[in-house]
Amino acid sequence: MRIAVFSARPYDQQFLSEANAGLEHELVFFEAPLSPATRRLAAGFEAVCVFVNDELNADLLRDMQAEGLRLVALRASGFNNVDVAAAQDCRITVCRVPAYSPHAVAEHTLALILTLNRKTHRAFNRVREGNFALDGLLGFDLKGKTAGVVGTGAIGQIVCEILLGFGCEVVAHDPSPNRQLLEQGVTYLPVEELLSRCDIVSLHCPLTEATRHLIDGPAIARMKPGVMLINTSRGAVVDTVAVIAGLKSGAVGSLGLDVYEEEAGLFFEDRSARFIDDDVFARLLTFPNVLVTGHQAFFTREALEAIAQITLANVTAFESTGRALHEVTLEPAPAAP
Ligand code: NAI
Repeated sequence: MRIAVFSARPYDQQFLSEANAGLEHELVFFEAPLSPATRRLAAGFEAVCVFVNDELNADLLRDMQAEGLRLVALRASGFNNVDVAAAQDCRITVCRVPAYSPHAVAEHTLALILTLNRKTHRAFNRVREGNFALDGLLGFDLKGKTAGVVGTGAIGQIVCEILLGFGCEVVAHDPSPNRQLLEQGVTYLPVEELLSRCDIVSLHCPLTEATRHLIDGPAIARMKPGVMLINTSRGAVVDTVAVIAGLKSGAVGSLGLDVYEEEAGLFFEDRSARFIDDDVFARLLTFPNVLVTGHQAFFTREALEAIAQITLANVTAFESTGRALHEVTLEPAPAAP
């Protein structure tokens, strides 16, 4: 199939081209994100391949369907950026990569926890400048601390297992408790109780109407003073303005983010020669106890290989059978967004 690949960074082009060896797909790469302004680039293509910050709303999908679009292949697991109901109305198939390397995201989560705790990002700079003072670098033992994991699907399960390995008491919240984790000693709690008991809270649920701003002002008020909050799921699970207030009051002791609710148009770009015009994001960066990475948790070689292979397998299946391997549908509710 001819596929218009949007938001195609050099690494996307490399891994998709490698995965396409032996397949007959024609990949046309566009560095620009898919938007109303760029959609005409895909006129006449039956398939588009998109990433997490390409916004496919109802109007865009209708316009693209009129220009021949039949397939949206997400090279991501989350699909909150696609109006799936509108796609279904337009008879456009939406498919995704349900799991590629949950280890990549889980291990990055631990990188955030360990860096924030032991302040290795600050130590790196100090030592480079000949400053070997330890003041301000005090951390805590993870062993014996209570860690709460919200969402124990593919990624959350691995985070729980790693934290158990560190000797943490691990509690979790998920509407569908994970049997293996129960057997390993993880306790499931209502989210309010989890928040009030944990020294570390890590978010691994999908972004849905139920989880949008799950961590808001009242939730922060319930948390242990000085809690470490980590979000590698989707930005809007956290109310950023509320968490900034929590950081200022000391209610939130440290914050690790790989995702941000207004990250579209900000992340995945080199903006170092420009100023940041998002004042909320800019405020976040002023806190010494905040660590932000630009949606890189998935970014390992193994994950990119798997994403490229599964994305093209979806397209190949759709081309030959009319059905993609991992379609996103509204009914029944998808198990692993
Ligand atoms: P998954 O579908 O395997 O697991 C999600 C879990 O969340 C499921 O067990 C589900 O029952 C649970 N859940 C649903 N609603 C919930 C609620 N209201 N409260 C608590 N739990 C709830 O998904 P996976 O692959 O583990 O991904 C988790 C999150 O990580 C998603 O938001 C995904 O978009 C994000 N992600 C982030 C990446 C990054 O690079 N930062 C890369 C890949 C995924």
